[in-house]
Amino acid sequence: MIIDELRIVGSTQTNVVMHAELVRVAQRALGRRPPEPRKEGLGTLVYPFDPDLAWAAVTYLRTPTRVVWDVYRSTAQRLEPLYDELVRDIHLDPRRLFLDGDGISVEVRRVDEFAAGERQIVGTVKNALIDGAHARRVRLHVDPERPVTRWIARHDDRNELIVSIDLGGGSLAHRGWRREAGEAPLREHLAAILLMLARFDPRRDVLVDPMCGSGTIAIEAVLAARAMPREAPTLAALELARDRKAVPLFPDAAPLVVGCDVDLEVLAIARDNGRRANCGDAITWQRADIARLQPSTIAEIAAEHGRPTIDSGLLLMNPPYGERLEDPELATLYAAIGETCKRFGAPWRAGFLVATPLFEKVLLPILGAPRIKKPLANANLRAYFYLWDL
Ligand SMILES: C[S@@+](CC[C@H](N)C(=O)[O-])C[C@H]1O[C@@H](n2cnc3c(N)ncnc32)[C@H](O)[C@@H]1O
Repeated sequence: MIIDELRIVGSTQTNVVMHAELVRVAQRALGRRPPEPRKEGLGTLVYPFDPDLAWAAVTYLRTPTRVVWDVYRSTAQRLEPLYDELVRDIHLDPRRLFLDGDGISVEVRRVDEFAAGERQIVGTVKNALIDGAHARRVRLHVDPERPVTRWIARHDDRNELIVSIDLGGGSLAHRGWRREAGEAPLREHLAAILLMLARFDPRRDVLVDPMCGSGTIAIEAVLAARAMPREAPTLAALELARDRKAVPLFPDAAPLVVGCDVDLEVLAIARDNGRRANCGDAITWQRADIARLQPSTIAEIAAEHGRPTIDSGLLLMNPPYGERLEDPELATLYAAIGETCKRFGAPWRAGFLVATPLFEKVLLPILGAPRIKKPLANANLRAYFYLWDL
C-alpha cells in the first residue's frame, strides 16, 4: 500500500521531548505548529507527510536519531507477496522518489517477526525498488557507499512492514564534529535531550557541565541555542528543500557556557571538538575538580562575558557511573557532587544522567527529593535523568 507519513525516531522515553522540539522548530522555521502525532511505542512519532515539516525536522531537530519518510506499507508475511506488492506500488506511485541513474542502499531494522532473514528482506526490497522503477523507465542501481537515497524496511508496532526513505541520510546523532571522544562520551542527541528536559533557556541560564569529558553537553547547548542547520543532501535530491535556506534560526543567540573537567587531556579534546563544531568562541573550558568547583569561579567567568549577575544557572552533567571506579570511590565522588550542588544553591538547578542506583542513594540525603526523575536509556544502560532545584 502507498502511504505518506513522516516518522521521527529516537531513544525510548523521548516522545514528549521530540514533539516539543518539533513544535519549537516548526513555529520558528515555518511559522506554524505541527499537528499532534501518532505515537508508536515510547520513541517514535508519526505525522502526516508534509514536505515543509520534513525539511524543518531534518534540518533542525537535535533530539531524534532519524527522520524518515514512510512511503510503502505491507502486511505480507513472506517474500514473494512482499515483492509483488512493492513492485505494483512503486509502478503506480506518482511521487518523484528517484531519478534515472540514482544509486540506492537498503537496510532493515526490527523485522524479527518476518518469515525470512534480514538479508533476504534486504534483497527483496532492493529488487522490488529496482524492478518497480524499471517499469517506470527509471534505472536504479545499488550503491551502499554513496547512495542518493537510503531505504529502510522495518516492522511498525502492528508488525506491518514499512518501507521508508531515510531523509537525514543516516543517524542524526552523529553531528560530525567529534573526532576524539574521551572516556564514555555521551551520544550527541542525548545531550540535546538532557538540555530539553532541564529546560535550558539560553537567554537566561548560565550553563555549566562540571564533568564535560569530550564536551558534548556544552557544544550541543551552543548549537541548540543558535538552532544550527544541518546539511541534508537527501532533501535536495528529493526536491523537498525547495528554495528554503538552511540558516541558523537564532543566529544572534549568545549563550554563556562553561565546560569543566578534572582531566586536562580530556579538556583539550573538548576544546578541539568545540572548534570543529564552530562554537569555540562561545564556550569557556576550565580545568576543575568538581569537589572544589566554586560558584565564585563561574560568577567571574560570567562577569568577564558581560553578565555581572547570574539570575538563573544550570549544572548539567553525566558523571562517571562505575566503568572505571569501584563503588566506595564512586560514592565519595557522588557525595562531592552533592556538596558542590549545595554550595551553588539558588538560582541554580542541577541535572544528571546516571546509570547506577548508587547515585540516588548518595544524593538524596544531601539534596532531598529531585523535582524530576525520569527513566532515559543511555545506549543500552538503564539510566535516569534527575533534576534538582538547588
Ligand atoms: C562519563 S564522562 C562524561 C562524558 C561527557 N558527557 C562526554 O560527552 O564526553 C565523566 C567525566 O568526568 C570526569 N571526572 C571524573 N572525576 C572528576 C572530578 N572529580 N571532577 C571533574 N571531572 C571529573 C572524567 O574525566 C570524565 O571526562
